[in-house]
Amino acid sequence: MPKESKAILDAIVNRRCIREFSMEVVSDEIIQTILEVAGRSPSSKNTQPWKLTLFQGAALDALRADFLDSFDTGKHFYPEFPCELISEYRARAVALGKAIFAYKGFTREDMDKRKVHNRLNYQFFDAPQMFILSVDKKAYHEGTLVDCGIFAANLMLAVEGVGLGSCPQMSTLVYPNLLRRHIPQGDQQLFLMSLPFGYPKEGSHINDFISTREPIENWFTVLK
Ligand SMILES: Cc1cc2nc3c(=O)[nH]c(=O)nc-3n(C[C@H](O)[C@H](O)[C@H](O)COP(=O)(O)O)c2cc1C
Repeated sequence: MPKESKAILDAIVNRRCIREFSMEVVSDEIIQTILEVAGRSPSSKNTQPWKLTLFQGAALDALRADFLDSFDTGKHFYPEFPCELISEYRARAVALGKAIFAYKGFTREDMDKRKVHNRLNYQFFDAPQMFILSVDKKAYHEGTLVDCGIFAANLMLAVEGVGLGSCPQMSTLVYPNLLRRHIPQGDQQLFLMSLPFGYPKEGSHINDFISTREPIENWFTVLK
């Protein structure tokens, strides 16, 4: 492997979800670097269809309070994407859940502990800052999704590159109308992902959790 390619390969392989953060706020300067790097993402015809909103301080506290209230009461649940997975993917999701729960010391059958675990999503894992990735409703199609997916990956790698961590979330997308209430012109957006980010909490157990991957032959085909 050529030496100069190692840093980028290491960054991709070593990135993992961070689900416990320190309270330390990430500076504007560091955020600027993250944005400049992620903003270099390629996109179809250079359309750059991603929209990114940063929540922090009182704005994040207010959003978190609304999300936790909805999680606790069942209000505002209105997912705009299909929540059902095909059986093959559901099996992987169940395997991931089992592995995380086991790592945290409980079983999938323990519904109370699962609820506490799930609730952390709506607490944004106590991150001091969070990005919301969205796309204009008018622009949305499969192509823009690819563009935004590439942007999302680069955003996570940029976060990693400045020594921070993050956790991509779709769980938060079940309350799109809450996001619309908090984001100016949010009614014109489709939400794709939230990304709590920050300094990983020192000594955190869950942040050392490493997920598995399918063997390459399960998703790769070569035609000769
Ligand atoms: C689009 C997307 C949505 C995700 N949603 C959540 C989520 O809501 N909550 C969560 O804890 N992890 C979420 N994840 C993290 C995945 O579970 C994680 O990426 C996967 O298990 C691989 O683990 P790793 O990122 O640590 O390598 C999401 C990841 C992606 C890419």
